[in-house]
Amino acid sequence: MDYQAWVEKKIAEIRLAVGDATALNALSGGVDSSVVTVLGHRALGERLKTVFIDNALMREGEPERVVSMFAQMEIPVDRIDSRKAFLDALAGLTDPEEKRCAITDTFYRTVFGDLVRSSGAKYLLHGTILTDIEETVAGIKRQHNILAQMGIDPREEYGYHILEPLADLRKDGVREVARVLGLPAALSERIPFPGPALATRIVGEVTTERLDTVRAATTIVEEELADSGAFQYMAVLLTDKATGIRDGRREFGEIIVVRCIHSVDAREATAVELPWDLLHRLCERITSIPGVNRCLYDLTPKPPATIEYV
Ligand code: XMP
Repeated sequence: MDYQAWVEKKIAEIRLAVGDATALNALSGGVDSSVVTVLGHRALGERLKTVFIDNALMREGEPERVVSMFAQMEIPVDRIDSRKAFLDALAGLTDPEEKRCAITDTFYRTVFGDLVRSSGAKYLLHGTILTDIEETVAGIKRQHNILAQMGIDPREEYGYHILEPLADLRKDGVREVARVLGLPAALSERIPFPGPALATRIVGEVTTERLDTVRAATTIVEEELADSGAFQYMAVLLTDKATGIRDGRREFGEIIVVRCIHSVDAREATAVELPWDLLHRLCERITSIPGVNRCLYDLTPKPPATIEYV
């Protein structure tokens, strides 16, 4: 595929669709939304308003890091603090689909609805990729970002149009486009990170305390596995607990799972054979997080597992 030609075609399509109106897009800092942001800015310039929605589910330092990376590319990004709205919507929910729905609804209806109304934007640019669409249509998972494919009319339900310029690409194609667009390697080669963020890595209820635990484990996993060459790696917090010993006393503690996988396009995945000493180091660091006394390594391929846990 000629990605340069693809880029030019998409920029023209975005310009044509939006016309003289204004558009809005949410940047999470993942490669998909980063590519959409740059494509959108090339197409629309200042008529595209880019926001970073702080949903409380982000990794350590993520909001600051993303805003500053785009500032270096001279793309202004507004940080919107929506932490309370998301945490309130997730309170008490344990079912994976209910959690995903709560995030979808908070994102589109509450946060985005308000932003669209206040900004006057009629278009929303979204980084949905082909794999999201296929898996949702196949009933494997309700991805948070593809309302149209779920039979929801976003114009009717939410009051605006959604453009999905990446809907014909898989992750490997998106990375090619990122390189063509000249995005820094820190963005184009970034491991995938899902829209619902750390909520996909917390089995059971999402609370501030449980987010802190999985966030601390995520920082460790990302530091230790940065050079692994893997497609994706993550830390997951389970609802089960296990008995352990800390400071000579019995402790009923949390269990963190580490997952590190090879994949080309996220449709299939296999666990990476990590060196034993690296696994030991991960285990030692993760079990030093307060309240965590077990660390497991997940060997399950996709299928039968999915990559995320929720
Ligand atoms: P699963 O867990 O379905 O993940 O095997 C496949 C790939 O998609 C990412 N993922 C998501 N990305 N919104 C996203 O933008 C989502 O709701 C979502 N769920 C999963 C996941 O990280 C993996 O790379």
